[in-house]
Amino acid sequence: MTDGLRKGLTSYGDAGFSLFLRKAFIKAMGYSDDALDRPIVGITNTYSDYNPCHGNVPDIIEAAKRGVMLSGAMPFVFPTISIAESFAHPTSMYLRNLMAMDTEEMIRAQPMDAVIVIGGCDKTLPAQIMAAVSADLPSVVIPVGPMVVGHHKGEVLGACTDCRRLWAKYRAGEIDGQEIEAVNGRLAPSVGTCMVMGTASTMACITEALGLSLPMSATIPAPHAERFRLAEASGKVAAAMAAAKGPRPSEILTEASFRNAQVVLQAIGGSTNGLIHLTAIANRTPHRIDLDAFDRIGREVPVLVDLKPSGEHYMEHFHHAGGVPKLMKQLGSLIDLDAKTIAGGTLRDVVAAAEEVPGQDAIRGRDDPIKLEGGLAVLHGNLAPRGAVIKHAAATPKLLQHTGRAVVFESVEDMTLRVDDPDLDVSADDILVLRNAGPKGAPGMPEAGYLPIPKKLARGGVKDMVRISDARMSGTAFGTIVLHITPEAAVGGPLALVRTGDMIRLDVAGRSIDLLVEPAELERRRAALKPPATPDWARRGYAHLFNETILQADEGCDFDFMRRSGK
Ligand code: FES
Repeated sequence: MTDGLRKGLTSYGDAGFSLFLRKAFIKAMGYSDDALDRPIVGITNTYSDYNPCHGNVPDIIEAAKRGVMLSGAMPFVFPTISIAESFAHPTSMYLRNLMAMDTEEMIRAQPMDAVIVIGGCDKTLPAQIMAAVSADLPSVVIPVGPMVVGHHKGEVLGACTDCRRLWAKYRAGEIDGQEIEAVNGRLAPSVGTCMVMGTASTMACITEALGLSLPMSATIPAPHAERFRLAEASGKVAAAMAAAKGPRPSEILTEASFRNAQVVLQAIGGSTNGLIHLTAIANRTPHRIDLDAFDRIGREVPVLVDLKPSGEHYMEHFHHAGGVPKLMKQLGSLIDLDAKTIAGGTLRDVVAAAEEVPGQDAIRGRDDPIKLEGGLAVLHGNLAPRGAVIKHAAATPKLLQHTGRAVVFESVEDMTLRVDDPDLDVSADDILVLRNAGPKGAPGMPEAGYLPIPKKLARGGVKDMVRISDARMSGTAFGTIVLHITPEAAVGGPLALVRTGDMIRLDVAGRSIDLLVEPAELERRRAALKPPATPDWARRGYAHLFNETILQADEGCDFDFMRRSGK
C-alpha cells in the first residue's frame, strides 16, 4: 500500500525500515496507530506576521482540521512560503514562482492523499494552484476571504482602490496630511484580502469558477463565522477526496473550465493580473489561454458585477448578493455548466443552488449590464507584437481612442525622480511611457503601470491620462492604462525604441497600439540598442534562476522549465 503515511517513503534502501523510522518519529507527537492509519490531508500554513491578509489562517486551519477529522481522515499542517503584496521586495510577482515551487515540492515530498491550500493575498492563490496542478494530487483551495469595508467621513472605503484615489487627492492638494493619516488607519479595517475586485478577489472568483474551491468561497468576508464553516466543509471534502483518491486537478480542469474562468474574469471586471496567472496555471496543464480568444470572450461577455474599481460596491456586497454562483447563473449560456467541481458535481448544481436576493444591485442581469463588453481587452500593434492588455472597464471612455506625444521614462526609478518635476515637459494629452519594468527589466514586473499623474497636471485637475508600459498594475487601480506590453523593453521589445516626442496611437475599439514612426527609423534605433547582458543583481541564487528562465507576460511569467512540457 502506498497510502497515507506509507506514501513517498524516505530512501534508506529498506522500505520497511523507512516506514518503521517514520512512525517512530511521528509518534513523538503523541499520535496513535489508529490516527496514523487514516488517509492524510495535508494543509498548507501560510500564516506570517508579515502577511496581514492571511491573519485568519490559523482559524481557517483549525476549522479545516475539524472537517477532516469529522470525516475520519488525519490532517497534517505544514508551512510554506507566504507572500504579502506590500511586504515583498522587489515585488510579490518576483516570488510567485518560488512559492509555487516550494508548495509543489512539499506536496510531493511529504505523505498526503489530498491537500488543502489556504491562500489569498495576490500571488498566493496562483502559486498554490500552479503547485497543486503540477503535483496533481486531489486538492481543495480555501481562499482567506476579503476584508470588511472601512468608513471615513460617511464614505465607504476599501483597500486599495480608495488608497489610490485618496492618495491622488492628497498629491493634488485636495486633502491635507492629517486627513490622509486618518484614512491610513481606516482603509484596512480587518484581516483578509483587499475587498475590491483586485487581484486577490479576482483569483478567488476564478478559483471558484474553475471548480477548485467550494461555492461562495471567494466572497465570504474573512472575519465572518461563515468563512470558518466553509473551511470545515472544505476539510470534509478533502477527506473524501483523500479516501477516494480523486478527483485530481487534471480531472477537474478542462478546456471548458478554463473558458468558464475567462468568462468570469471578464464579467467581474477582474484584474489584469488574473490573465497572467490564469495563463501560468493553464500552461501547467494540457490547456492554453489564447490571448485573441480571451479578447473574443471579452466582446461577448458583459461586466455584470458592480464592484470597485470598475463599479461601486465591495466584495461583501457581492457576497450578500449571491456571490459567484449567482453571477454564473446570470451569465447563463456563457458558462459551460457541465464543468466539474471538487464538491463532486458540476457547475449546474452550483448554479441551481444560487441564492435569489430580492433588490440586490451588485450582480446585474445580462439585460442590464454594467458594461456591454468584458472588463479586459487585448491590444496588438507595432508597439506590442505579442500583445498588451487594457482594463477598459476602468478607463476614461474618451481616452480609449487617443493619439498623443510620448513622454518616456527609462525605468521605475527615472519615473519616480522626474514625474513630479515642475520643469517636466508634459501636457494632459501626452502619453506617459514607462519601460524596463517588465518581468526581467525591473525585475518581477512591478505594479508600476499606474504611473502617477504628474503633480503639476494633477493640481490642475487632470484625473486620467493614457499611460503605457511593460509593467503590471494592481487590480485595485483604475485609469486608461495599457499594461504587459510584450515583448518587454529589457529583452529588446519595440517599447525600447520609443523616444520622447514620438506619436503613439491607442485604438481600443480596433484593439491596437502603435508607434507612429517610420519602419526605417525604427530599424536605425534598433541597430543602436545595446544587447541585453546579465545584470549584477542576477549573478547568483534565486535571482539568477529568475533572470535566466522567466517567461514573458503572454506566457504567464512562469519559469520556462516549470511548464507542463518542461523546457
Ligand atoms: Fe493582500 Fe491586497 S494586499 S490582497
